[in-house]
Amino acid sequence: MQLRDFHKYNAAILIVFLFIHLATHVSGIFGIATYNAVQNFFRTVYRNPAVEPVLIASISLQLLVGAALLLRSLRRGPPDSRRAKLQVVSGGFFFVFMAQHLFSLGMARLYFHLDTNFYWPASVLSGPPFIYYFIPYYFFGVWSVLAHVGIGVRYWIEESGHERAARRVEKAFILGGALVSAFILPVIAGVWFDIDLPQEWIDYLRFYVPDFVPWG
Ligand code: HEM
Repeated sequence: MQLRDFHKYNAAILIVFLFIHLATHVSGIFGIATYNAVQNFFRTVYRNPAVEPVLIASISLQLLVGAALLLRSLRRGPPDSRRAKLQVVSGGFFFVFMAQHLFSLGMARLYFHLDTNFYWPASVLSGPPFIYYFIPYYFFGVWSVLAHVGIGVRYWIEESGHERAARRVEKAFILGGALVSAFILPVIAGVWFDIDLPQEWIDYLRFYVPDFVPWG
């Protein structure tokens, strides 16, 4: 199988996870308890011992194959259209985002033995200096993956001869992606309700910044 085909078929599986993952974050608008209940419901699927290693392997391979495709494309020359440029930049950004996301997840779960529920992302949005990094990190992380997927899906639909639908779907992913990213951030940052960050999460942040004090 060609690398490009692998990237495409593997993406189709990951898109299902992406949507349930983002749905969990969006559900946070109804409060922390709802977020954790939705996450626990979906965890029965993706934390299943038969599923989780496949998910982690699939996303890791997607990143590696994506990086190989990126290098191959850049070796052929600079991207020749705005869409091609966006595909390269969003893929590159998502690579960085996801590599760190998986590393931090491993640290939180395996090293700190924490339950990575609502309080994990909320902790890094609970005050400076973390917010200066994590606000753009989450915003562009979510937007970049949705823009990248949108451009890919456009090509799939175009191949089946539906040029107009392809353009609309791409636009929906790119514009919708920016809206979803902008929606999730204030939810997790506690703009709509108070978040009383448990001490274990303050200790987690103090491992990185010893004198950290969360807002409010
Ligand atoms: C605002 C953006 C995001 C936030 C706040 C976030 C937060 C989280 C949280 C809390 C977990 C732990 C889940 C659990 O313990 O059940 C997690 C795991 C994970 N996230 Fe994200 N995430 C974000 C974006 C993404 C994106 C765009 C992807 C791309 C597919 C992604 C992929 C993953 C994967 C693969 C896991 C591991 C699942 C597992 O095996 O437990 N995340 N993320």
